Amino acid sequence: MSTTDTGDVADGRNSFVYVVAALAALNGLLFGFDTGVISGAMLYIRDTFELTALFGYAIDPSYVEGIVVSGAMVGAIVGAALGGRLADRLGRRRLILVGAVVFFVGSLIMAVAPTVEVLIVGRILDGVGIGFASVVGPLYISEISPPKIRGSLVSLNQLTITSGILIAYLVNYAFASGGEWRWMLGLGMVPAVVLFVGMVFMPESPRWLYEQGREEDAREVLARTRVESRVGDELREIEETVRTESGTLRDLFQPWVRPMLIVGVGLAAFQQVTGINTVIYYAPTILESTGFADTASILATVGIGVVNVAMTVVAILLIDRTGRRPLLLSGLAGMTVMLGVLGVAFYVPGLSGLVGWIATGSLMLYVAFFAIGLGPVFWLLIAEIYPMQVRGTAMGTVTVVNWAANLLVSLTFLRLVDVFGQSGTFWLYGGLSFLALVFCYQLVPETKGRSLEEIEADLRETAFGSETGRPDAVKSDD
Ligand code: BGC
Repeated sequence: MSTTDTGDVADGRNSFVYVVAALAALNGLLFGFDTGVISGAMLYIRDTFELTALFGYAIDPSYVEGIVVSGAMVGAIVGAALGGRLADRLGRRRLILVGAVVFFVGSLIMAVAPTVEVLIVGRILDGVGIGFASVVGPLYISEISPPKIRGSLVSLNQLTITSGILIAYLVNYAFASGGEWRWMLGLGMVPAVVLFVGMVFMPESPRWLYEQGREEDAREVLARTRVESRVGDELREIEETVRTESGTLRDLFQPWVRPMLIVGVGLAAFQQVTGINTVIYYAPTILESTGFADTASILATVGIGVVNVAMTVVAILLIDRTGRRPLLLSGLAGMTVMLGVLGVAFYVPGLSGLVGWIATGSLMLYVAFFAIGLGPVFWLLIAEIYPMQVRGTAMGTVTVVNWAANLLVSLTFLRLVDVFGQSGTFWLYGGLSFLALVFCYQLVPETKGRSLEEIEADLRETAFGSETGRPDAVKSDD
C-alpha cells in the first residue's frame, strides 16, 4: 500500500484503523459460527429432547428440527429490519454493543435450555443479534475506512464469516464424540464478549457523528484514523454531503437512489439463490452421495471451509486493486460453470470414481468462486452505494432480503432435490448464477478508490444527467 497523502497508511497513528476494522469484523464471526455450528449440534439435540411436540401441541419432529435450525434466520430477518433504523438512530458503535449483548444472551439461553421451547427462544434471540451484526458490521467499517483500503477492510467481515464457519466445523468435529451440543452452541458467547469489550474502546463512525451535528468529535476520530493532511478534506466532503441531503425515509425511494436500491436487493437475493448455503449447510450429505464415507465426507467438509477462507483472503488482497466488478463478474462466471459441471456429474448414474472426484472438485471450485466474488463483494457494495443519511435503513432493507432468501433456499433445497434431483437443482442454481452475471454486468457500479461522498455525488450527477444506473454511474478512478 502506498504511503501518500490520500489517507492510507502513512504513520503509526494511522494503523489504528486496522485495529478498529479487525475488531468490528468480529461481527462476522458471530454470524459465521452460528451458520456452521447448528447442523452439527442438531444431531445431538435430537437425543436430548423429545422433538414431537411444541408448547403441548403434537408436531412432526422434522418440523420441530426445522424450527430450531431456521429460528436464527427468522431472528436475523427481524434484527436486520430493526438494525438499519437503529444504526441511524443510536449510532453504529452502540448498535454493535447491543448486538453483542443480544447474541450473548441468546447463546447462554441455548446452552442451558431445559426444554426445546426455551432452546428456540434462544435461537431467535441469537438470530436478532446476528441480524444487527450483519447490517452494522460492514456499515461501521466502511464509514471508518480510508477510501483506498476500504474494500479490504470491509471484506475482513467476510473473512470472519468464513472463519466462523470453519471454526464451527472444527468444533462440531471436536465435540462430536461426546455429543456436547450445549458447549457447541454456548461457545458463541466467547466472540460476543471479545467484540463487546473491544468496541467499548473504539470510536464512533466519523460520518455518523458529523450527521448528528458533532463536528468536533468527527474531526477527532478522523485525526486518529487518517494522516493529518487528509482530515480537513474528508471533513469538508462529509459536510458537503450532509448539507445537500434532506435525510427522510423518502430519500430511499427517490429516483436517484432507486437504481442502487435495485442493485442492493438484486445482489442480496442472488447471493443466496445461487445456492451457497446449500453447500455450507448440507456439504456432508452432498459429499456422501459422491461416494465418500462418513468421516471422509466430514473431512472434505472441513476442506470446503478452508477453501472458503483462503479464497476470501485472495479477494481481500485484490479488491482494492482490481476493483469490485472484475471480482464479482469473474466469480459469477466461475460459479455458473461449476454448477453446470456439478449437474452433469450428478447426472451420471452410480456416481463414483473419477466422476465422484469431478463432482467434489467442482463443488470446491464453486465455493472458491463465491468466496472471491459474490461473498465479499455483496457486503462491501451495500456499505458503499447508499447516501449517507439513509445508509443504515437501506442496508437494513437489503439485508432483510438476503436473510429471507437464505431462509427460502434452506427450506426448499431438500424438496427441490426430491422433485428435480440433484442435477436439476444444481442446474437451477446455475441458471440463476447466469442471470446474476447479466444483472451485475448491466447494473453494478465500480466503487474502487472513491470516497463514499464521491460515490454519492457521482450517483446523483448520473441520475440527474442521464436516465440510467449503469456501471458508469460511478466513474472508475483511473
Ligand atoms: C453469506 C452467507 C454465507 C457465507 C458463506 C456470506 O457472504 O451472506 O449466507 O453463509 O457468505 O461464506
